[in-house]
Amino acid sequence: MKKISLLLGCWMGCAVALLAQGTTTAGIIPLPQKCTLQAGEFVVKAKTKIVLNPNNAQMQKAVTVMKDLLKTAAGFALPVSKKATDRNVIICTLNPNLKHDEAYKLWVQKDKITIEAKTPHGVFYAMQTLRQLLPPAIEKKTVQSAVKWTIPCLEIEDAPRYNYRGLHLDVGRHFMTQQEVMRYIDLLAYHKMNIFHWHLTDDQGWRIEIKKYPKLTKVGAWREQTKERTGELDSAGKYIAHWDNRPHGGFYTQAEVKEVIAYAQKRFVTVIPEIDMPGHSLAALAAYPKFSCSGGPFRVEGQWGIFEDIFCAGQDATFAFLEDILTEIIAIFPSPYIHIGGDEVPKTRWERCHACQTRMKELGIKGEHQLQSYFITRISMFLAAKGKSVIGWDEVLEGGLAPDVIVMSWRGIEGGIEAAEMQHNVIMTPRQYVYLDYAQDEASPAKRVLPLQKTYSYDPTPVELTPEEAQYILGVQGNVWTEHIPTFERVLYMAFPRAAAIAEVGWTQKEQKNFDNFKLRLQQIAAHYDAMGIQYYQP
Ligand code: ACM
Ligand code: ZN
Repeated sequence: MKKISLLLGCWMGCAVALLAQGTTTAGIIPLPQKCTLQAGEFVVKAKTKIVLNPNNAQMQKAVTVMKDLLKTAAGFALPVSKKATDRNVIICTLNPNLKHDEAYKLWVQKDKITIEAKTPHGVFYAMQTLRQLLPPAIEKKTVQSAVKWTIPCLEIEDAPRYNYRGLHLDVGRHFMTQQEVMRYIDLLAYHKMNIFHWHLTDDQGWRIEIKKYPKLTKVGAWREQTKERTGELDSAGKYIAHWDNRPHGGFYTQAEVKEVIAYAQKRFVTVIPEIDMPGHSLAALAAYPKFSCSGGPFRVEGQWGIFEDIFCAGQDATFAFLEDILTEIIAIFPSPYIHIGGDEVPKTRWERCHACQTRMKELGIKGEHQLQSYFITRISMFLAAKGKSVIGWDEVLEGGLAPDVIVMSWRGIEGGIEAAEMQHNVIMTPRQYVYLDYAQDEASPAKRVLPLQKTYSYDPTPVELTPEEAQYILGVQGNVWTEHIPTFERVLYMAFPRAAAIAEVGWTQKEQKNFDNFKLRLQQIAAHYDAMGIQYYQP
């Protein structure tokens, strides 16, 4: 109770601070396009009702998360009513005249909340705005009977800057449970992000059941031990690491993955699976070594790095194997995008492989970079024929970019610029701004440091692009690689609050961004993080 009142005290204190500063924005992240605070408040009560126009399945879906939160934390049912004339109602109406599919208008008055949106997706975002405006206790998992469920009166008009606003999670290096992945997706939706990029395979683990190849998870999902950092530095300033002598692993059944997708759909989040190829594939090769150049044997890797043993590009059997896997992936994931990796591919095995060299001669190609291009093109044609768009890390530019492949620019912004100039769609994830596994504290001895302000300062549209080329920038994504993040608690600590900054980078118009104002709003959001039980980074 004491903690709750402390939280509430902080929440109200922050709201007062915002008003005292004369700011026109409430504690909402990402910052809405237009927001005017007004006097008074709406109070959600046990008899508050929701009105849906139209009252169909998609509209009901758009309000379900809010209804569930209020049911859990307030004990209120919020029934859907037909009578728009009721007092103390939340009226949600579709309005085809709004410009953007995710846009919404929200008007909170003392006895009525009015929401307009072009699609149910916008209604869902209006609900997330209300979620942020409610007291932080809305995030609690038990009924908080002492709380008054107030929402400040205000008027909002809102729409995103970019259509693609993503957050990635690497579960290949350290496995995260299904429940943890769902929590992550809820947090993403809370910040109006709409893409979850699920990095499902790597050298250190294969995390998704593939029915045709059971050894991928029987063998590939487990490693004998892990080289973990101790947190101490050696005399050269490098982190000391040691083998932990403990098996690590785990995977999701296809049924569990479908549950995650359904959970994400309720939050208007698209789940993009990544099956990394031709590199970062040791876990798969430990299970099926014949699809390598040398034939193995291999172990699921326990340490971090870039490894030379990769899928053989010379054997047709390798492509048949990968196409079988992707066929099962497509059947599970409704996402229009499939990510096929393509990053950090050493060519040393291909240089010495008879099958790979024969393939190169047949194709009349000279360098192994072109063989990588052949590999990515062949797989993307397979996926394109099934109606899927392919995403690859920016190394897919080397040796020639396959038709229609979307480039995820991670080593910097150059790959994104090059791809946009070639009229390819681009997602910006430059490590210098949005790699959330980098240390947050400027005083950290870590080699790679990324303070909150630098992440916040990022503009995903490179100034080098013409307005026509800039249209190819679909948006932005934050990445969380888990080589040095063994637990989900640590994932959250590393991701937040920088993920909130990325959400604002993706949503809010550039001219409206202001770091001091963001920090002020973050104080209120942080009280919600506290109520959610997130141990986020605090300077
Ligand atoms: C990457 O960070 N290797 C895409
Ligand atoms: Zn080969």
